[in-house]
Amino acid sequence: MKIGIIGAGNMGGAIARGIAMNTAHEVAVSSPNRHGELDVLKSQCPGITTSTDNAVAASRADIVVIAVKPWLADEVMDKLGDNIDYARQIIVSVVAGIDLSHLESYARGNAVPAVFRVIPNIAIAQCQSMTFIAHRNASESQINAVCGIFDALGKTMVVEERLMGAGTAIASCGIAYAMRYVRAAMEGGIELGFPARQSLEIVLQTLVGAVATLREGGEHPEAAIDRVTTAGGITIRGLNAMERNGFTTAVIEGLKASK
Ligand SMILES: NC(=O)c1ccc[n+]([C@@H]2O[C@H](COP(=O)([O-])OP(=O)(O)OC[C@H]3O[C@@H](n4cnc5c(N)ncnc54)[C@H](OP(=O)(O)O)[C@@H]3O)[C@@H](O)[C@H]2O)c1
Repeated sequence: MKIGIIGAGNMGGAIARGIAMNTAHEVAVSSPNRHGELDVLKSQCPGITTSTDNAVAASRADIVVIAVKPWLADEVMDKLGDNIDYARQIIVSVVAGIDLSHLESYARGNAVPAVFRVIPNIAIAQCQSMTFIAHRNASESQINAVCGIFDALGKTMVVEERLMGAGTAIASCGIAYAMRYVRAAMEGGIELGFPARQSLEIVLQTLVGAVATLREGGEHPEAAIDRVTTAGGITIRGLNAMERNGFTTAVIEGLKASK
């Protein structure tokens, strides 16, 4: 399949690299290249076609990915005009705040385009994104095609569009919340006597272990907690001290505030 990506910044660049390195799809990327992003991309993945002309990336693509800043999307799509065949090509947007109805409105004539709204998070650069996908007018094979691309860049979840905001809070803002936990645990580790570097390493490996325990063991988090909390032991004392300081409430309230 041919994927045309409009915009070569954080998002467009990460998607292009991820597809080029992990799938057999052909990738073309366009951007004005004011900051040399296309040159960097080309040096990292020579197989990618780059152009400063959006029509080059879009016109031959089976899937057109819009990855420009929100305030540029309408102008970019308007200028592409007839270079996109909305009856044939799939439109995928990672642009924050542009909904499926808005994407549909880009179509010319009577075409009813297959449109996808996709929300990855910054871990897409490491191919570890949690990506939410909502769609309209798409066939089963088109849904599989789009999910297949983002599956190569992390985990994907197809959701109703109304859940995109909640997904963003948990998984996109959630990266910041996870970082805050890492920082807090790291600072606790320093107070307990470990140098900063070692403290960070300990926290990261502990989280890797926690994730593996849940993923591979298929356990509920509370069941895993039960296995580490001896009656009268130190873990339950720590957990209760955290809860007295509002840990669970703080996390839930933070997620609700960011929706
Ligand atoms: N970053 C994230 O974590 C994240 C997460 C989810 C969604 N998003 C969404 O992804 C979109 C892109 O964000 P980003 O962080 O990747 O922004 P970015 O790094 O600024 O990238 C935007 C890219 O678009 C290019 N561009 C500017 N004008 C263009 C035009 N007329 N035609 C084609 N390309 C053009 C820019 O080129 P120049 O640099 O040369 O101007 C740059 O390569 C945004 O709509 C954002 O809401 C981002």
